[in-house]
Amino acid sequence: MKGLILSGGKGTRLRPLTYTSAKQLVPVANKPVLFYGIEAIAEAGIRDIGIVVGDTQAEIRAAVGDGSRWGVRIEYIVQDAPRGLAHAVKISQPFIGDEPFVMYLGDNLLNQGITKFVREFDEQKPAAQILLTRVPDPEMFGVAQLENGKVVRLVEKPKQPIGDLALVGVYMFGPQVFESVNRIKPSFRNELEITDAIQDLIDRGLTVRPHIVDGWWKDTGKLEDMLEANRLILETFDRRIDGTVDAESRIEGKVVIEKGAAVQQSVIRGPAIIGRGARIVHAYVGPFTSIGNDVEIKDSEIEHSIVLEGSSVRDLANRVIDSLIGKNVRIYREPVKPSAYRFMLGDNSEVGIRW
Ligand code: TTP
Repeated sequence: MKGLILSGGKGTRLRPLTYTSAKQLVPVANKPVLFYGIEAIAEAGIRDIGIVVGDTQAEIRAAVGDGSRWGVRIEYIVQDAPRGLAHAVKISQPFIGDEPFVMYLGDNLLNQGITKFVREFDEQKPAAQILLTRVPDPEMFGVAQLENGKVVRLVEKPKQPIGDLALVGVYMFGPQVFESVNRIKPSFRNELEITDAIQDLIDRGLTVRPHIVDGWWKDTGKLEDMLEANRLILETFDRRIDGTVDAESRIEGKVVIEKGAAVQQSVIRGPAIIGRGARIVHAYVGPFTSIGNDVEIKDSEIEHSIVLEGSSVRDLANRVIDSLIGKNVRIYREPVKPSAYRFMLGDNSEVGIRW
């Protein structure tokens, strides 16, 4: 069995971060989202993983390497443009060959891993197996309709309700899927849709098995989901303090302070993580916050946020909340008149000021 991780795409919903970085490398609890997927596949016993990459391939190759860190072999499959999930499958046929495979969307997170899901597929050997979860807003997802324990229909963003079982970003396929991805036509958004390929398997009379996920699942494609994933992962951490904390600081609850980080005259209330080389000085870091490597938080307060490496937040009068701050960003207060906001923001940036 092989693994296929999709790590191309446009990432429009996470702009401006995705102008300069791959969204799959945005860290959740200080670890790139993509690494959680690689770990889940490796844990299921799969050793050969193909990663589909696009414009951000250089950065992904540099971060992931050859997979030896996880005890797996990684090959890269270049997609010329984001032409859809089924297109990614189509171009991966030479890598996959005749083997069954698990396909994992590189910006998705599943807390239960995929071992059970993979084992079930291996025992039952259907043409495809899809992972489903109940959602309150099925009109936003690809939705599956089931009958007698089999999937009978898939509808992308249904206008008429057909149930609340949405497709999660992990799929398993046998080699029959290649005939389907080669047969389907591009959708109205000009992509080869994986739902159409799976529907084609059903129409060919092949078995598509559902598997309903027990734990949580998150697609980290947009800010709110990213923050929620960060919350969910931080909650699973145990307290570990490897950095230095002075006597005037208080560390409350589940807090991870990495080696080389320094906390002075500050309060850190977990769950939170402070990365290597970070400096927290006369500051408050509140619950559900991930502070990246070499970040400086000085004379400021921050909570429920993610700050990427090399950034600094200094001398702010109000607390920063619900924020995703990219790499090497500087936010500071200048004690000069006139009082004003002064910005230098990239395209599609977003600033919210709350009174
Ligand atoms: P999406 O989040 O559906 O698409 P996107 O990355 O283009 O993002 P946005 O909607 O914000 O513009 O993609 C799911 C995953 O699959 C993600 O990791 C990117 C990857 N992908 C590919 O590798 N190739 C593709 O052709 C597409 C559409 C997605």
